[in-house]
Amino acid sequence: MNRISIKDVAKEAGVSISTVSRVINNSAYVKEELRIRVEKAIKKLNYNPSTIAQSLRRGKTKTIGFVIPDITNPFFPNIVKGVEDYLKKEGYTLLLSNSDQDLDMETKIINTFISKHIDGIIFTGTGLYNPALEKLIEKGIKIVFLDRILEGVNASYVICDNQIGIYELLSYLYNRGNRSYYFVNGGKNTFSAKIRYEAFVKFMKEKNIKNYNHLYKEFSYEAGYSFGKKIKKLPDVIIGGNDLIAYGIIDSLQERGIKIPENVSVTGFDDILFSKHYKPSLTTVRQPIYEMGYKAAELILKIIDGKQKQIKGIVLKPQLIIRNSTK
Ligand code: RIB
Repeated sequence: MNRISIKDVAKEAGVSISTVSRVINNSAYVKEELRIRVEKAIKKLNYNPSTIAQSLRRGKTKTIGFVIPDITNPFFPNIVKGVEDYLKKEGYTLLLSNSDQDLDMETKIINTFISKHIDGIIFTGTGLYNPALEKLIEKGIKIVFLDRILEGVNASYVICDNQIGIYELLSYLYNRGNRSYYFVNGGKNTFSAKIRYEAFVKFMKEKNIKNYNHLYKEFSYEAGYSFGKKIKKLPDVIIGGNDLIAYGIIDSLQERGIKIPENVSVTGFDDILFSKHYKPSLTTVRQPIYEMGYKAAELILKIIDGKQKQIKGIVLKPQLIIRNSTK
């Protein structure tokens, strides 16, 4: 079936191609009588303006690409909701893709986004240095780093204040007499894991606490579970780098007959949906997850529309949530 073109519509309506284009893009005033003729011709010929052609003319596809590292972690769908709600409000479409913490996959996704002429990228990376991404940033691609900054890369970002989150958690635990800690963290290349580790060690040194350990693993239930199965000497507190790690620690310790918090306290970070329902309910640091996504979408559109020319960093405050997994 041959495609109806804008030329056929103009002929049918007895107007110029530019008049048809103005009616389709609603881009300038068109006399009512002419508008009606064009709309009748579009209907009669069942004309569908090619969105690709339209977008290339407009130079905007009104599409944003968003890369996330682990769609199985409830933290990320929550942040995606914040991004998408803002974009929808502004008439933008979201292209979402999951890198599964794999650097090659991350690069493939970015290249696919570029081939689809997205207007900008929101990026929550594996944390590994991505040379392809660096090249695109140098070429001026519009990008906002969300939740995880890529160190050494100068670009706008939206993150939670991880240091304050860890500091408030440790202050609470310290003030209740806890003096030995084991931190089971996410991957060492991940910005959020690294910055939480640095805040943890800084606190230990400030309080002159000698009895502490730290282990980089990954932000997963399995990482916590395998740790809890093996640990011999229990500290006062085991800190999970995120809630999923804390869940795994709780389950594996309880399977060994260890009581939480009587024998050991356990804490998390994120405050995803299940944490208030866990047995025991999880003491954790709540990230403003939805708001982080919403602000990142707002920022990328400001950058695209030229309203945000300088590099901008937005740091949102976390909240300490005390529940039953700590003494
Ligand atoms: O749960 C996943 C973790 O990685 C979160 O704490 C978030 O900050 C992300 O970086």
